[in-house]
Amino acid sequence: MTDTDKPTLETRIAQACHYIDAATGGISPPLQLSTTYARGADYEYLGDYGYSRGGNPSWSVLEKVCAELDGGIGALCFASGMAAVCAVFETLEAGQHVAAPRVMYHGTQDWLRHLAENRSIGLTLFDTADPNALEQAVQPGKTAIVWIESPVNPTWELIDIAAAADAAHRAGAALVVDATVSTPVTTRALELGADLVFHSATKYLNGHSDVVGGMLVSAADDDRWQRIKWLRTYMGGVLGPFEAWLLLRGMRTLFLRFEKASASALEIARHFEKHPGLERVLYPGLASHPGHDIARRQMSNGFGGMLSLLVKGGGDAARRIAGNTRLFVRATSLGGVESLIEHRAAVEGPHSAVPQNLLRLSIGIENCRDLIDDLEQSLGKGQ
Ligand SMILES: Cc1ncc(COP(=O)(O)O)c(C=O)c1O
Repeated sequence: MTDTDKPTLETRIAQACHYIDAATGGISPPLQLSTTYARGADYEYLGDYGYSRGGNPSWSVLEKVCAELDGGIGALCFASGMAAVCAVFETLEAGQHVAAPRVMYHGTQDWLRHLAENRSIGLTLFDTADPNALEQAVQPGKTAIVWIESPVNPTWELIDIAAAADAAHRAGAALVVDATVSTPVTTRALELGADLVFHSATKYLNGHSDVVGGMLVSAADDDRWQRIKWLRTYMGGVLGPFEAWLLLRGMRTLFLRFEKASASALEIARHFEKHPGLERVLYPGLASHPGHDIARRQMSNGFGGMLSLLVKGGGDAARRIAGNTRLFVRATSLGGVESLIEHRAAVEGPHSAVPQNLLRLSIGIENCRDLIDDLEQSLGKGQ
């Protein structure tokens, strides 16, 4: 096969970039648990590795596949999504500034508030509903990082990534996209101008609710990238070899899982859009969603598996409905094969801007009719 008829990304990911173990011919990589690697009598390392905190074969194959998935120059895996998030912000110097959405994954925002309160980092949180707010939040010469998600968690409003990249770059800042929810299956953040893509690999990349991990992918091999690599080694938030192995296994089915979850989420959103027990269904695939036009441009292969229900009757009704489900599991997190439901405001705590009547759903790969029936009976009992 020549370069011009390169197989599709879906095929390359399913085959882990056509992985074949050089030593055995195995089509799944061996699990190498060694923490240290021997030197020869000449004191040179026998292979490519020295000590596992700096690099090991389990990461190499996983990172190659992740770099391919996002179309970056390289990838770095971390012990958790938050370890990767913290490594990115650790590149900031005192006096620099970050712009981020007001509604976003609360853990990242909590960390940014911590930096603003304790480490002299400026922070502006902008309103995603206002298309000019991001541009106004950026301070030329001072903003070093614009951090966005699209769709944002848990209202699933869209941010135009290409416009955000433009605004960030004009101000001399880097654009980092948290692609945990959209995934490169449907949104190509680096191609749209992002400098770095971040994933909580705990979610769709792994997909089976059994690994905590983080991933960064870079557009360029620049100083920032080298610094992040150094920080990973010295901060030590490194992924274990078994987790790396599981994550690579999970990623092979990413396209299948994401496409199934997207199709079911769209069907569920349409089914419940006019339900008398609901004020609204928030899902980027619905024409009624404020970000639908951007979603159609920016999400080329499904609108994702995440949606939220704004129920009638406030927080008490929302918690009652969540309490009634038989198939949807009441648990936090997202992107696994099993569908989850959560009362998001209760999870996020006092800073949360999430409405009390919002229930967040992560749609899995179960039979969609079963999921609809479960929500119907939960809503029926909840009113
Ligand atoms: C959108 C998003 N970003 C970042 C994170 C943090 O990742 P982790 O839990 O793997 O540390 C999460 C976790 O829920 C998330 O949903």
